[in-house]
Amino acid sequence: MNHNFLLTSPIINLFIVTLFLLAKKASCTDPQFLACNPESCGDGQNINFPFYIQNKQEPSCGYPGFSLSCNDKGKPVLKLSNNEYIIHEIYYQNQSLRVSNAALFGKSTSCIPQIQNMSLADDRFRLPSSRASLFLLYNCNSTLLANDSELLNYKVDCFGENGTFSTLAMLDDDPLLGPASDKCETGAVVPVDVYRGENVGSERMPLLERGFVLNWIASNCSSCEESGGKCGFDNATYHFKCFCPDRPHSWACNSGNGNTGRKLIIDCIIFLPHLLSLLQLLQLPALEF
Ligand SMILES: *[C@@H]1O[C@H](CO)[C@@H](O)[C@H](O)[C@H]1NC(C)=O
Ligand SMILES: *[C@@H]1O[C@H](CO)[C@@H](O)[C@H](O)[C@H]1NC(C)=O
Ligand SMILES: *[C@@H]1O[C@H](CO)[C@@H](O)[C@H](O)[C@H]1NC(C)=O
Ligand SMILES: *[C@@H]1O[C@H](CO)[C@@H](O)[C@H](O)[C@H]1NC(C)=O
Ligand SMILES: *[C@@H]1O[C@H](CO)[C@@H](O)[C@H](O)[C@H]1NC(C)=O
Ligand SMILES: *[C@@H]1O[C@H](CO)[C@@H](O)[C@H](O)[C@H]1NC(C)=O
Ligand SMILES: *[C@@H]1O[C@H](CO)[C@@H](O)[C@H](O)[C@H]1NC(C)=O
Repeated sequence: MNHNFLLTSPIINLFIVTLFLLAKKASCTDPQFLACNPESCGDGQNINFPFYIQNKQEPSCGYPGFSLSCNDKGKPVLKLSNNEYIIHEIYYQNQSLRVSNAALFGKSTSCIPQIQNMSLADDRFRLPSSRASLFLLYNCNSTLLANDSELLNYKVDCFGENGTFSTLAMLDDDPLLGPASDKCETGAVVPVDVYRGENVGSERMPLLERGFVLNWIASNCSSCEESGGKCGFDNATYHFKCFCPDRPHSWACNSGNGNTGRKLIIDCIIFLPHLLSLLQLLQLPALEF
């Protein structure tokens, strides 16, 4: 085949120029910017900064302490000390999320399982102070309860339980909480999405399944996002970073510290000789460049 024909064919030219432009674009875009994209566990929820899915997203796309895993039902799961919580919804706009204890799901009975106290040791997550908690009282002496008909209303029916012990569930502002806990051996406090003083029905399981809201504390991502960047974290300096197409910035893509674009220019200079030789090869005028 004619060698000249290959080089002058408009389609081949277009192909070469497109390839070159793609290579140029890729080499000039910061890899950390390219790496941080939203992911999902399968339920359609976007997982974004400060959260990241372990083994699916780079830790640098999130904030330390915000790693999630996915369960077999496609739900994101947050582990806080020894408890696992299913994430129902993340509200990025007010930095909060609704979760419930994973122990409540995937069981066949209507029993309330033994739940452990939540521990928020590391200050990244906080409970809104306006919400109530539910006390789960375990191993309550059934003989003592039988003498107190009022307390029997709080019994959480549990199919597998023997007659000796019962489980009670009471909101934390209930005046009978003190007398009740005297008759029980152990207990756990579970936050619920109920305002203090709010009137709720007698059913307790729906409250537990609905879960509760947690606030989180991490750098505010909005100014980075609004400037076209992707929020992340620099493990080396232990600081928030705004990953932008050119390079990481400290808060937003449009705020720089003087060397904005330096990396971009260096990257592109490497490609300049290639472009010139290509233009020569194609006998195209290099004037416009
Ligand atoms: C984050 O910052 C934006 C503007 O800078 C502000 O409107 C927003 O309320 C902040 N979000 C939080 C959760 O503080
Ligand atoms: C954040 O907003 C969502 C939806 O508007 C709301 O359900 C949630 O309670 C809010 N979080 C807090 C802590 O108020
Ligand atoms: C329940 O309380 C009664 C009365 O105090 C007591 O006799 C009984 O042994 C207790 N039952 C259990 C299982 O502790
Ligand atoms: C039940 O209540 C009665 C009267 O209040 C009391 O005499 C009795 O000792 C109580 N029984 C138990 C097992 O506490
Ligand atoms: C009833 O359950 C308690 C703990 O839930 C257990 O310690 C006790 O042995 C059980 N009693 C019987 C008769 O199964
Ligand atoms: C859970 O917390 C409550 C109240 O803070 C406490 O009374 C209870 O002993 C704790 N339970 C466990 C198992 O640590
Ligand atoms: C962050 O850096 C520390 C020490 O330099 C290292 O042990 C750790 O694995 C790094 N974490 C991530 C998520 O890269």
